[in-house]
Amino acid sequence: MSLIDDARAVRENAYVPYSKFKVGAALTSTSGAVYVGCNVENVAYPEGTCAEAGAIAAMVAGGDTAIADMTVIADSPKPVSPCGGCRQKIAEFAKGDVKVTLATMDGVVQETTVAALLPGSFDADYMSRV
Ligand code: THU
Repeated sequence: MSLIDDARAVRENAYVPYSKFKVGAALTSTSGAVYVGCNVENVAYPEGTCAEAGAIAAMVAGGDTAIADMTVIADSPKPVSPCGGCRQKIAEFAKGDVKVTLATMDGVVQETTVAALLPGSFDADYMSRV
């Protein structure tokens, strides 16, 4: 199964009673393991979590901390764009050149990178004087 297939499959489990907008994410860690996540909403709206955050949490729980490849899919008119918070979360665990595939349920696919999604990102180097 490709990462797009994995993301498409887990998207079906999204818990989205409020937005009705299902998102699936799948990633391969540098160990070769695949981790998936879907968005999980909450009646207290800000407590909802994105699909990307779910996949990253699964990866860390599984003992991995480095993303090698990631895919996000939704039923959107153009390939779904990770929110700002998720871009920062992805950047925590991925080098800038890591490929991120954004996809629609219709089969439109856009490839980008972690660095392109979050240019000028804050990282630990900024704290080197501490
Ligand atoms: N959402 C994600 O899970 N990932 C994205 O990349 C964009 C937005 C979710 C959050 C919320 O549950 C729903 O989509 C609508 O914003």
